[in-house]
Amino acid sequence: MKLLVTGGAGYVGSVTSRLLLDAGHEVTVLDNLVTGFRAAVAPEATFVEADIADAAQVLTPGSGFDAVLHFAGLIAAGESMVKPELYWHDNVVKSLALLDAVRAAGVPRFIFSSTAAVYGNPVELPITENAVKAPTNTYGATKLTFDHALTSEAFAHNLAAVSLRYFNVAGAYISGGHEIGERHDPETHLIPITLQVAAGKREKLQIFGDDYPTADGTCVRDYIHVQDLARAHLLALDAATAGEHRIYNLGNGNGFSNKQVVEVAREVTGVDLPVELAPRREGDPATLVASSARAREELGWVPEKNTLQAMIGDAWSFYRSHVA
Ligand SMILES: NC(=O)c1ccc[n+]([C@@H]2O[C@H](COP(=O)([O-])OP(=O)(O)OC[C@H]3O[C@@H](n4cnc5c(N)ncnc54)[C@H](O)[C@@H]3O)[C@@H](O)[C@H]2O)c1
Repeated sequence: MKLLVTGGAGYVGSVTSRLLLDAGHEVTVLDNLVTGFRAAVAPEATFVEADIADAAQVLTPGSGFDAVLHFAGLIAAGESMVKPELYWHDNVVKSLALLDAVRAAGVPRFIFSSTAAVYGNPVELPITENAVKAPTNTYGATKLTFDHALTSEAFAHNLAAVSLRYFNVAGAYISGGHEIGERHDPETHLIPITLQVAAGKREKLQIFGDDYPTADGTCVRDYIHVQDLARAHLLALDAATAGEHRIYNLGNGNGFSNKQVVEVAREVTGVDLPVELAPRREGDPATLVASSARAREELGWVPEKNTLQAMIGDAWSFYRSHVA
């Protein structure tokens, strides 16, 4: 297929582009490099440095794209609470402009990077796609808003749309001489923060609260290896059906606590990471674990690298050779 990957210079988009190229697809990456890296774009991909708001420059009528995979966006939940206007603009207004370009160019399929943040504090665990959607931050609200836009677009204009709701993404792609991983700045995700501490780039780790109703008292999150996540996009491209908006959670269904993450990071890095216990953070749910039963049943998706050892091990290999 001829594919446009927005945000393909970022973490998940660059790993997915690699898998798409390996599967024989033709990939054009469109990215404004606001948080992405030119070097993360595979040499076999065509690179267009542009904003998604200007995607019509690439998605011209007759350009013949078979699908758009839309990863581009702003992703820091904390920042979205202090600069909400940025998030509404990038994740909604500009994404709607992208959708206009998709419609005008007659692109039949659209795969969107949605997020577990659309659910907010879960009422029931594990979280299914039908769970109450009550985002607790602006980031989640912007992603949910675009999910709604996709639903109406699919029904009204016969688009084959798929939203993939990622839980916590971790790990790196390390294969065939390619190494692609996570380098957000500032880093807000626990695993890369532990690696920064292990590499001596950050003084200590903070764990926010150890009195939650979980086995060891620290928050539990569902981690998914970026390679497993990327594979789901290829399956979603095959499953996308005109006039339908399909929605799939992507997680392991198996949570790991903050303490478990730290223990495995100590094992993998060989560094006795200093940890400071800090008070609970406002709005942090005790446990967030996905049900990915629908993705397993309908897409035939099975996460393969589902241990913390695999995720932190790959992330550490990438971090040591490319970031530290
Ligand atoms: N990383 C996670 O744990 C996680 C979890 C859930 C959902 N997601 C979603 O997955 C997607 C990718 O996340 P990521 O971790 O790879 O983030 P990232 O910041 O590494 O990548 C985002 C990319 O989008 C580009 N971009 C942002 N705004 C743009 C615009 N207006 N025009 C063109 N390019 C633009 C950035 O330059 C960057 O390359 C995001 O939509 C995010 O909401 C990520």
